[in-house]
Amino acid sequence: MTAPKALDVQNVAKNFGGVRALTDVTLAMAPGERLVLLGPNGAGKTTLFHSISGNIIASAGRISLFGQDITQLAPDARARLGLARTFQITNLFRQLTVFQNLQLAVCGAQQVTFKFIRPMTQYVGVRERAEALLTEWNLTDVADTIVQNLSYGEQRQIEVVMALAGDPKILLLDEPTSGLSPAETHRVAAMVRALPRDMTILMIEHDMDVAFEIADRIAVMHQGRIIAEGDEAAIRGNKQVSDIYLGVE
Ligand SMILES: Nc1ncnc2c1ncn2[C@@H]1O[C@H](COP(=O)(O)OP(=O)(O)OP(=O)(O)O)[C@@H](O)[C@H]1O
Ligand SMILES: [Mg+2]
Repeated sequence: MTAPKALDVQNVAKNFGGVRALTDVTLAMAPGERLVLLGPNGAGKTTLFHSISGNIIASAGRISLFGQDITQLAPDARARLGLARTFQITNLFRQLTVFQNLQLAVCGAQQVTFKFIRPMTQYVGVRERAEALLTEWNLTDVADTIVQNLSYGEQRQIEVVMALAGDPKILLLDEPTSGLSPAETHRVAAMVRALPRDMTILMIEHDMDVAFEIADRIAVMHQGRIIAEGDEAAIRGNKQVSDIYLGVE
């Protein structure tokens, strides 16, 4: 028997009133695969992420994670199946420290419910996992820094680490390099490359060179559809893709 696909998106559509944000999107990922989603503004990339994570429910089609149909499941049920994501816009608690943000991410991932009012640091499992993340990602020096005092590039890195809190099997990253300098972009790209090779990673990226640096395979979206899919050579050689990126269309 062949292993189930990590992600299987079949004929997904999403309409917002009269806007067709996704039309007949079909996309599959093997476990451990790294796929980068390229495409111009408004192509439907984030809408596809929301459909996969459960932040929105697809208007049509079917989505499976590791062989299980998740099309109608709530986001927390999808998270329990091993899915984690970041958002295009920073989603940090800016007034809290890095360590506190990580602890909150771990609480979310472990679905800790606060039955008693007591400091998060007393939840031993939470504290230990947050400390492990600090060590693993060389964040010990900034553990007690208030997030809003970090550079924007550092904040985006913290967000990726927060998504790792529950040790996901599949990770969705929505433009983790947006708004970053070339040096910061390089750091985030290196971070993504350093993730465990068995973690399935779907990442939205605007910069083709960054995409090729990370991806095993690329998919390009345009006007709600996937218009090209393949390796670097296939994408670079695709006339429709170069037309879109050169603004010919
Ligand atoms: N909640 C919503 N209500 C109405 N229209 C929406 C909503 N979310 C997205 N859209 C529309 O759906 C289309 C796809 O948007 P989406 O955010 O998925 O694009 P994107 O590829 O992520 O773009 P960007 O690169 O700018 O982030 C756009 O036309 C957008 O205006
Ligand atoms: Mg987007």
